[in-house]
Amino acid sequence: MMQDIKAVFYSQEQIQEKVQELGNQISEDYKGKKLMLVGVLKGSVLFMADLMRSITIPCEIDFMSVSSYGDDTSSSGRVRILKDLDKDIAGYDLIIVEDILDSGKTLSYLKNLLLTRNPASISICTLLEKPERKSSAINADYSGFDVPNEFVVGYGLDYAQKYRNLPFIGVLKEEIYK
Ligand code: IMP
Ligand code: MG
Repeated sequence: MMQDIKAVFYSQEQIQEKVQELGNQISEDYKGKKLMLVGVLKGSVLFMADLMRSITIPCEIDFMSVSSYGDDTSSSGRVRILKDLDKDIAGYDLIIVEDILDSGKTLSYLKNLLLTRNPASISICTLLEKPERKSSAINADYSGFDVPNEFVVGYGLDYAQKYRNLPFIGVLKEEIYK
């Protein structure tokens, strides 16, 4: 895989440090609350696994799987639920855990859907944000790093379902995207 990488944006060490900071902040903010982390499959799995380990207060986890009807590298905002939550979230303080906030369409759809189920609160924690592209659709409450407006892979993020297992975040060489 390494021969396909053009540049590394964030190393494994930088990611670990950032995830720990986010976990500390969440542990403080959600003290005494009924916290549930909702991971958006599949991109959030590595982030979710590290984030939950860095949270020091009790929390539950669940996952949703959605597919957007976009092309390879951008999303359309039309979202189909492939896997829903296992249980009723009424009264829970939810944090939606996402790999990357790009147009915000996926998260905005998800948040609005989950809001109809009467949770106590919903906030959003994303590892990455593309500030150049972000519309006003939605804002992250917790955000790790900004990335430039390029298609990034690694640490859960894929290109055509590959590269999720890279331990860092980077970009692929142009010829790979063709
Ligand atoms: P949005 O709805 O435009 O915010 O797109 C969010 C989803 O698109 C993310 O959950 C990712 O699955 C995917 N995505 C957006 N940008 C990238 C990227 O640079 N690399 C990999 N996946 C991306
Ligand atoms: Mg995703």
